[in-house]
Amino acid sequence: MKKAIIIYQSKTGTTKKYAQEIGAYLQERQIATFCLPVEKYREGMLQDADYILLGCWTKGLLVVFQKPDNDWRYFAQKTTVPQSAKVALFATYKIRTGSMFKNMARCVNHTGSFSVPNMKSKDGKLSGKDKVTIDEFIHN
Ligand SMILES: Cc1cc2nc3c(=O)[nH]c(=O)nc-3n(C[C@H](O)[C@H](O)[C@H](O)COP(=O)(O)O)c2cc1C
Repeated sequence: MKKAIIIYQSKTGTTKKYAQEIGAYLQERQIATFCLPVEKYREGMLQDADYILLGCWTKGLLVVFQKPDNDWRYFAQKTTVPQSAKVALFATYKIRTGSMFKNMARCVNHTGSFSVPNMKSKDGKLSGKDKVTIDEFIHN
């Protein structure tokens, strides 16, 4: 059985909900999925994961300068993502994600080429489009 790990940062619960919905969908697709907040992450947890999904809430000046919050940045920068794993990013937001995904990708400590799918949500609900993104992510 393939294994996925979802690590998220959430202040008011929207990103947590989104992470859990992503996790439930992966489980439906027969992937053993672990979902946890950044503060519960411990070194080595990513080692045997086939899929790694990293999520954060959007922090910026509403329309410009979006970036992940410091706790997420710190987590991503100190964590080495195994080269064998596939990585996806997700974020929640209110108005626009703008530079969010570019800035998230910059923080991820991954050797080799790093081109990843991303998903975004305003309310933390998984959309039909997200399901297609996940299906492509786990099948390609
Ligand atoms: C300080 C701060 C800055 C924010 N900046 C943006 C922004 O630039 N663009 C945006 O669309 N939403 C922005 N938001 C909204 C949050 O990203 C959004 O409410 C998110 O879903 C919260 O996630 P959480 O419930 O997991 O904490 C901001 C929220 C806060 C508190």
